[in-house]
Amino acid sequence: MKVFLIGFMGCGKSTMGKRLASKIGSSFVDLDHEVEQQAGSTISAFFSAHGEEAFRQLESKVLKEFPYPEHSIIATGGGAPCYADNMQWMNANGTTVYIDMSPLALARRLEKGREKRPLLKNLNDAELVAFIEGKLAERRSFYQQAQLMVDGLGLTADALNALLQGKSSYL
Ligand code: S3P
Repeated sequence: MKVFLIGFMGCGKSTMGKRLASKIGSSFVDLDHEVEQQAGSTISAFFSAHGEEAFRQLESKVLKEFPYPEHSIIATGGGAPCYADNMQWMNANGTTVYIDMSPLALARRLEKGREKRPLLKNLNDAELVAFIEGKLAERRSFYQQAQLMVDGLGLTADALNALLQGKSSYL
């Protein structure tokens, strides 16, 4: 079983993924981390040196070629579902869960930690919300292709697990 957690930067994919994996005894895979391993540098440094298109190609390759353990919870990068056929690939190769969150909530969570995210690092507080609103509008149609969708605010590993067990269709 592979579960791909998708959604905007800051929605809690890694935090929830780690908690859920430890709760149900699955492995946790952080795709940003695996891309950094492949690149031999941080995502920020890779973006600066090679640009976004090269990053997206590498991210897509890692997504599709990573040797996932049999039971894995996978936190994907926020832009991964929106490039090439990545979303279709995830839907064909696992269960996809969109962690939904409003631009304001995302902005609050992203105010700190902008440095390591190349798309955000040059934005001030006011620009941050506007950027998130615009990017989310561009990306929503990809995120909404997920098989399951959940509200990220107040989300717990138990609730996410229940959703995956089919005990609830929307939380
Ligand atoms: C990106 C999200 C980041 C990382 C890169 C680009 C994006 O991952 O892959 O900085 O385009 O939304 P997180 O969603 O884990 O922050």
